[in-house]
Amino acid sequence: MNHNSLLFRRKSVAQLQKDSETSSLKRTLTAFDLTMLGIGAIIGTGIFVLTGEAAAGTPDALGAGPAITISFVITGLACGFAALCYAEFASMIPISGSAYTYAYASFGEIIAWIIGWDLILEYAIGNVAVAIGWSGYFKSFLSGLGVHFPPYLMASTGTELVQLSNGEWQPLTDILKSQLGSQVNMMPHEVSILNLPALIITFVVTVLLIIGIKESARTNSVLVIIKLLLVGLFLYFGIPHFNPSEHWQNFAPNGWHGIMTGAALVFFAYIGFDAVSTTAEETKNPQRNLPIGMIAALIVCTILYIAVAAVLTGMVPLDVLANEKPISAALDAVGENKVAFIISLGITLTMPTVLLVMQMGQIRIFYSMSRDGLLPKKFSRVSKRFRTPAYSTVVVGLLVGLLAGFMDIGAVAELTNIGTLFAFVLVAIGVWILRVQQPDRVRKFQVPAYKFVCSGAIIVCSYLMLSLPLITWLRFVIWMSVGLVVYFIYSRKHSVLNEAIEKLE
Ligand code: ALA
Repeated sequence: MNHNSLLFRRKSVAQLQKDSETSSLKRTLTAFDLTMLGIGAIIGTGIFVLTGEAAAGTPDALGAGPAITISFVITGLACGFAALCYAEFASMIPISGSAYTYAYASFGEIIAWIIGWDLILEYAIGNVAVAIGWSGYFKSFLSGLGVHFPPYLMASTGTELVQLSNGEWQPLTDILKSQLGSQVNMMPHEVSILNLPALIITFVVTVLLIIGIKESARTNSVLVIIKLLLVGLFLYFGIPHFNPSEHWQNFAPNGWHGIMTGAALVFFAYIGFDAVSTTAEETKNPQRNLPIGMIAALIVCTILYIAVAAVLTGMVPLDVLANEKPISAALDAVGENKVAFIISLGITLTMPTVLLVMQMGQIRIFYSMSRDGLLPKKFSRVSKRFRTPAYSTVVVGLLVGLLAGFMDIGAVAELTNIGTLFAFVLVAIGVWILRVQQPDRVRKFQVPAYKFVCSGAIIVCSYLMLSLPLITWLRFVIWMSVGLVVYFIYSRKHSVLNEAIEKLE
């Protein structure tokens, strides 16, 4: 076998289907469970935290202003196209590894590895942003109780005081405003030494996963219903204060550029529908239920997001949103302090579902990669004591926890977004390739007008990637290069497909 065919060796779809038939996981999840699981993974830091930053802007990025509502429509469209592509793949290859597995079937091993490595950005690094986002609402909840943590052990407040040379203290926001003139709605960078709550919540989630928290669909459904009620509560109390003639005067202060920069950030809010596809081996009739679960979850969230973005920007001026808890800040600003407190409490309680689903998604992807020999066997080993993949759970927990303690949420979310968008583009290309190469393969769900939908996913997702800052691209390229080094040093030699080839030779 020559060099190139080694790199692009594929797992056949028949082989993958056999893997799934021999899977030892129990099939219990229904279409409804999957929809709830999807919503549980989707609604989190993106809508509750990043919307504020994306609308108001940061020192590094122009804000979309109220036009963040349009950013949500654009990203919803990109994810809609991508979800259809994921649904076709999931109905054809219902195996737990998600995009990684699809790539193994359509492009071959090297691309599968690249996607698997890239998905670490989506799941593990994404969770870093979720943990940081959670700590912002936790702090807001604590301050509602009159408890104030030292700021250097929390996520940034966005209102740090700075001592001037004349000895006076002034909020950093005011100083930035006086210096930067028109770009007044800015959110200063974090001034936190260690984000202790983010570290603690990651630790708790990791312990729960190690001891084998029952992935109870019922508990998840209850938490998701609470989350939906919180969104409903916000809309109910926010709509009476909705005043577009005042707050939407300057609807898109930074024009199309601001809208796209905002879209590239709030894309994060939609991530999670694809995590549903990692449960393929635990789903009843996955060919039918995976597409339904993913698409239904995405539709519900898109409608809610557009409504939240519109109401939020229509009820208060932008600078009220320039902090890490824009939903409760906006309610506080219009005098709904009790509702703001209830919502902070609710978000604190329910947001860890995102952490759980994403962390499990990461562990399942490591499991699939390790089963294929591309990662050490330890990653798919199940602990005798707890009967869970304890080793990979600890590795993921350490990675997420350490970064969550020290990183800036915007930078982490952007890195997650570029990684996820890249995976979406490759999945859309993969659907197209398999349609051409294997037109007769059974697809229980087919992307309608596939050329149009796949091109739509490829174009809109690439455009969103291009709207991300240069520094994010740089980090992405470095991360992917490290991945390639790992592949050539370790994975290529240990791939289980080697054994199959040796047998042939
Ligand atoms: N979409 C998920 C969130 O916003 C990752 O938290």
